[in-house]
Amino acid sequence: MNPLIAPSILAADFANLQKEVEMINNSVADLIHVDIMDGVFVPNISFGLPVVEAVNRHAKKPLDVHLMIVEPDKYLEAFHKAGAAQITVHIEACPHLHRTIQAIKAMDCKAGVALNPHTPVRSLQDIIREVDTVLIMSVNPGFGGQEFIENTYKKIQALSQLIVETGSHAKIEIDGGVSLSNAKKLLDAGANVLVAGNFVFSSENPTETINKLKFIV
Ligand code: DX5
Ligand code: ZN
Repeated sequence: MNPLIAPSILAADFANLQKEVEMINNSVADLIHVDIMDGVFVPNISFGLPVVEAVNRHAKKPLDVHLMIVEPDKYLEAFHKAGAAQITVHIEACPHLHRTIQAIKAMDCKAGVALNPHTPVRSLQDIIREVDTVLIMSVNPGFGGQEFIENTYKKIQALSQLIVETGSHAKIEIDGGVSLSNAKKLLDAGANVLVAGNFVFSSENPTETINKLKFIV
């Protein structure tokens, strides 16, 4: 099965965001990955609701909103209204994760949970059947263009096992340092969705790069 490809607009040219979104529209990408950073949960600030709304006005692919913020419950509805088709929250930011997931699903939105590199896959044992996607951070969240963490492969394998054991239907999404040099190995380990920021937007031909990630053999 070909992976779903989710270019991350964090690495796009913000002064030409419409053009960048149209590039994604006209590519074989499946989702548009939207990174929200609050400068508290992660040591960086990206952009907020008005930018998500603006992206959504031009987007022809579903918005995959990755909230790297504290107290995400306060903003779920606002991000949904801004156009999110899926909202992913960090397990490390959610003391009442079950409630948060139910709140996302109640809006008819897909629900994802993200794990930082140090957070064990086993911490999802009692929630994994409720979520549509598990996002494994393959870098420490906060910045694009960082080096991929090799332990990710083991985490994907452990997560695949947990998904089988629990009868969950969750997809496995990988975020951070994804490129053509690790994409095949990630898919072989069990990944279903690949997020790519710098690898796509810094390449000479982003449309073609998305194509290569999608049809990698
Ligand atoms: C990192 C973000 C990623 C980022 C990936 O905190 O969650 O989505 O945009 O960027 P690359 O692909 O450049 O590592
Ligand atoms: Zn992300």
